[in-house]
Amino acid sequence: MSKTAVVTGGSSGIGLQTARRLLADGWRVWSLDVNPPPPHCATPLFMRAEMFSYLACNVSDIASTQAAFEQIQNQTEKIDALICSAGVLRAGRLVDQPPEHIDMMMNVNIKGPWLSTRYSVPLLKNGSTPGHPARVVFVGSISGIRPKVGTGFYAASKAALHVLVGVLAVELADANILVNAVAPGTVATPMICEQPGPEGIGTSFRPSGMSPLGRIAEPDDVVDVILFFLGERSCYVTGTVLPVDGGTRAAFSPK
Ligand SMILES: NC(=O)c1ccc[n+]([C@@H]2O[C@H](COP(=O)([O-])OP(=O)(O)OC[C@H]3O[C@@H](n4cnc5c(N)ncnc54)[C@H](O)[C@@H]3O)[C@@H](O)[C@H]2O)c1
Repeated sequence: MSKTAVVTGGSSGIGLQTARRLLADGWRVWSLDVNPPPPHCATPLFMRAEMFSYLACNVSDIASTQAAFEQIQNQTEKIDALICSAGVLRAGRLVDQPPEHIDMMMNVNIKGPWLSTRYSVPLLKNGSTPGHPARVVFVGSISGIRPKVGTGFYAASKAALHVLVGVLAVELADANILVNAVAPGTVATPMICEQPGPEGIGTSFRPSGMSPLGRIAEPDDVVDVILFFLGERSCYVTGTVLPVDGGTRAAFSPK
């Protein structure tokens, strides 16, 4: 029988690539996103209605998230994994940022994963069996470990998310649900590629630049680690936040 995953933010970037890789591996995938999958997803992989479903869902909204999980619950008794990739970045100096940007990052980046986890726990409990724990994987950020000027509040939201990982891991251990996070450095996704640069209006956003490995990450670099957290070889790993940053935070480089 196929394993089932719910992926938030499954219409773009890391979430979309997670959905694609899981489908290719035979998983049944529910994608929750405010936006539908892009047109280039009209491929046989995404077109099998029994394997892939998109649900319009704002993960920062209680009613919207509850409704999405009710819809899933009406069609399946269990899920094996929840991957929370939905996130937003609004750059700017802390003292200048509009309060609505702060509210948005709090709501999407912290409240969103919390709400999704809350509503998925009954399904995850049904999906976990002795020796085969259910999984929750959050997409955090290296900025939550090593913050950057110009994205201070985003970094704070991801640091808070990392804290939730540890506490949820312990709270859900009895239910045999493992909770971990990846903390990517800069990844080539629309979130980064469509940010206004230093010349952009009202922001001081600058990508971190190349990692010590000489490039920024591709979504697959991050998805490889998400798949590790979903696989049989991480059954004794919970409550961790694993940097996937090519060594960006490992040491200060004067270069
Ligand atoms: N790209 C990077 O450099 C980078 C680095 C570290 C962490 N991250 C994190 O990775 C995750 C994925 O980001 P990405 O780079 O793939 O960005 P992306 O913009 O390509 O994808 C984000 C997805 O989240 C969805 N989304 C936004 N708000 C939502 C909401 N309220 N409800 C449901 N869906 C919503 C968007 O529609 C989009 O499909 C985010 O949590 C982000 O903070 C990204």
